[in-house]
Amino acid sequence: METAVNIDATRSVVVLPDIDALSGESADLFALLARTSIAAHGRFTAALSGGRTPRRFYELLGSDRIGGSITWDRVHLFWADERIVPPDHPDSNFRLALESFLCSVNLSSENIHRIKGEKDAETAANEYDRELRAFFGTPLPAFDLVVLGVGEDGHTASLFPGSGALRERNRTAVPLHREDPDHDRVTLTLPVLNNAHHVLFLASGAAKAGVLHEIIDEQNRKGHPAGMVCPRSGEVRWLIDAAAAAKLSTIESGKGGESG
Ligand code: 6PG
Repeated sequence: METAVNIDATRSVVVLPDIDALSGESADLFALLARTSIAAHGRFTAALSGGRTPRRFYELLGSDRIGGSITWDRVHLFWADERIVPPDHPDSNFRLALESFLCSVNLSSENIHRIKGEKDAETAANEYDRELRAFFGTPLPAFDLVVLGVGEDGHTASLFPGSGALRERNRTAVPLHREDPDHDRVTLTLPVLNNAHHVLFLASGAAKAGVLHEIIDEQNRKGHPAGMVCPRSGEVRWLIDAAAAAKLSTIESGKGGESG
């Protein structure tokens, strides 16, 4: 049982019972977008995030049912953000993807465009910026899909509240310094996120209920980096579990609408 509500013409929220259902829905959507993008323009470009929430979703991408339905040699994977750690470090977002599905699918290394966390943040961001511009052939990449999470503080990718990175208008990727025990990071910037065709936000657990109420119910959307993601001509879909949806009035009022 899921509840789906359109917030407006380009934003929707789907509430699933738990993280398993959320992961299954995410994997199905990834596969669907991959097939439709490949049919439409010959390739599928996706930027992935880290965090705890997407692990099961990523594992499903490596399964026969989902992974077997994707033409992987037409898929190009990028990352929404990365920590400045080597690629085999437990905190590496690349490592999360590698362990959960990249080791199981037939994706050539030429199709894997990771952020080089083993370099310093400035160098890694500059190299990633150059790679993005060269790959897409435009100053601003237009991803078919960007997968994002949201922190309890409203951050998304590595765009944190109050960060100067939020004001970046020219670069596609920027470095940022983080205090111990976090690591310095590289993140895609808002112009890139807001140029995507599809943005998929994933959120699970009661700890996210407050910030989701502020963003999705429009209490303080623009006060949170995640709420600033609103692609000009793309679609934002929130897939969240029941615990994360506990404070949403949008869902309460939309329950008579679409549901399945
Ligand atoms: C990361 C992401 C970050 C993440 C959120 C949510 O690599 O950690 O950059 O933006 O998506 O912090 O994380 P959870 O899924 O663990 O709640």
